[in-house]
Amino acid sequence: MTAAPIDATSTAAWADLESLKNGFTPDLRGWFDADPGRVDRLSLPLADLHVDLSKNLVTDEIVAALVRLAEQTGVAERYAAMLAGEHINTTEDRAVLHTALRRPAGATPALVVDGQQVDADVQQVLEKMSAFADRVRSGEWTGVTGKKVTHVVNIGIGGSDLGPVMISEALRPYATAGIQARFVSNIDPFDIANKTADLDPETTLFIVASKTFTTLETLTNARLARDWLWAGLQQAGAIDDSEAKKTDAVAHHFVAVSTALDKVEAFGIDPANAFGFWDWVGGRYSVDSAIGLSLAIELGPDAFRELLAGFHAVDEHVASTPLEKNVPVLMGLLNVWYTNFLGAQTHAVLPYAQQLHRFAAYLQQLTMESNGKSVRWDGTPVTSDTGEVFWGEPGTNGQHAFYQLIHQGTRLIPADFIAFVNPAYPLTDGGRDVHGLFLANFLAQTKALAFGKTAAEVEAEGTTGALVAARTFPGNRPTTSIFAPALTPTVLGELIALYEHITFTQGTIWGINSFDQWGVELGKQLALQIAPAIEGDDDALAAQDASTRSLLAYYQAHRQA
Ligand code: F6P
Repeated sequence: MTAAPIDATSTAAWADLESLKNGFTPDLRGWFDADPGRVDRLSLPLADLHVDLSKNLVTDEIVAALVRLAEQTGVAERYAAMLAGEHINTTEDRAVLHTALRRPAGATPALVVDGQQVDADVQQVLEKMSAFADRVRSGEWTGVTGKKVTHVVNIGIGGSDLGPVMISEALRPYATAGIQARFVSNIDPFDIANKTADLDPETTLFIVASKTFTTLETLTNARLARDWLWAGLQQAGAIDDSEAKKTDAVAHHFVAVSTALDKVEAFGIDPANAFGFWDWVGGRYSVDSAIGLSLAIELGPDAFRELLAGFHAVDEHVASTPLEKNVPVLMGLLNVWYTNFLGAQTHAVLPYAQQLHRFAAYLQQLTMESNGKSVRWDGTPVTSDTGEVFWGEPGTNGQHAFYQLIHQGTRLIPADFIAFVNPAYPLTDGGRDVHGLFLANFLAQTKALAFGKTAAEVEAEGTTGALVAARTFPGNRPTTSIFAPALTPTVLGELIALYEHITFTQGTIWGINSFDQWGVELGKQLALQIAPAIEGDDDALAAQDASTRSLLAYYQAHRQA
């Protein structure tokens, strides 16, 4: 039985934070000048990550009140309930056990939930994935004409796409086996047409990745891929039109990842080539399950296990570190401070690593599908604002696009900066280390945001008149700096787990079930109702509202036969 949510706004800590907010004047310059110990106190280790929270708009008093808020809302208790397999996903009556996916082999005591030997099942699938990945990478597994696989195309959407594509891009330097992963997600036919245009069907392996195996986009794309495969192989004279040959082609070129193995079989994929996971893994928490099969193939099973080890290191930190030193909890609390007390509506994530160019997109599903809710886990309305908008782009590109607003706009935008000491590709320009120059930008931006530039400093440079105000930087723009030695699989696992637990902390404080996503259902249902109207069904057209009818009329009028 899941405990009822504690209303954070009725706790003593919330009242303390309210009074600390009244008359609160952030002063990072003053705080840094007056307190030489601030940086050390607020710089914390998290596995391989060095996390500097010192440039956030908090005093020790505020941090202490935030920690009390976590205590009084039962963050640690809820985390323990999650790890123990309680059905904290109340609306779907499910356990939430993505943390079990990264427990090392032989972890004790063994995790048994709802009668399932969780550890044993996880290891079994991991071993099946590893063995399959090795076969594909070595060339032992071939296409129907005996050729080695050169391209793996993952067909999935949401959590069955965003994690794998983000990691594939981030860890590209680890893809050394001559196999490239591609990702098809959108039902816009451009996506699959574009991603397969230069591929050879004889050397392409499709992974149909869908937790439910009912998702319209994924099943449509899977059928399109199957047609593309059959047509290409027939054109090459590799197979004829017989059902036997077509089935054989699918057996060599299609595997699946799903919790619904019966539906996989119905699609025509041999259950022997299906990789399972379980309903206690949410889609957006599933990249460390068999959903990561494309990664195990492209990067290798060892790199995939290193990724899992990174996740696990952060899980251990969350479970065993007191709240006041617990990095994901503190970062979640800071987000609550900004959202609920200082009025922030968005949160930027700015990696200084081009390889992380899909990281913000990944985090958008993780954070916004998890915490974009207005009811609590017992069905009652939330009692405060929830769910910021997460967004971002890699630096330095963002510096030349939207940073202006963060520096001098009227909105408060807390930002996480992520950087790596060592580059994936060390290059020099005229003898200068280019990565060093890149990192100088990361350091400069967080410094400028924190400390700004006063009018007096601007004037001291000789600027006068109206230009002084335009060139003044207010500072006190909060940032967290996350620094790591290098972007390795382990470090990436740590980063992802960090944000999973930040999300969980915020969800708990808001009383939210961060593991369902009912908000995506209505649009799915309506699309199915509108599809016949697009195809010319008059009754379906008449059933629409006036705006939808008008847009459909525009569609019919401009449609090229
Ligand atoms: O968008 C809703 C959603 O259910 C996500 O939560 C999920 O990751 C995605 O669709 C894909 O679902 P599936 O893996 O079942 O195809």
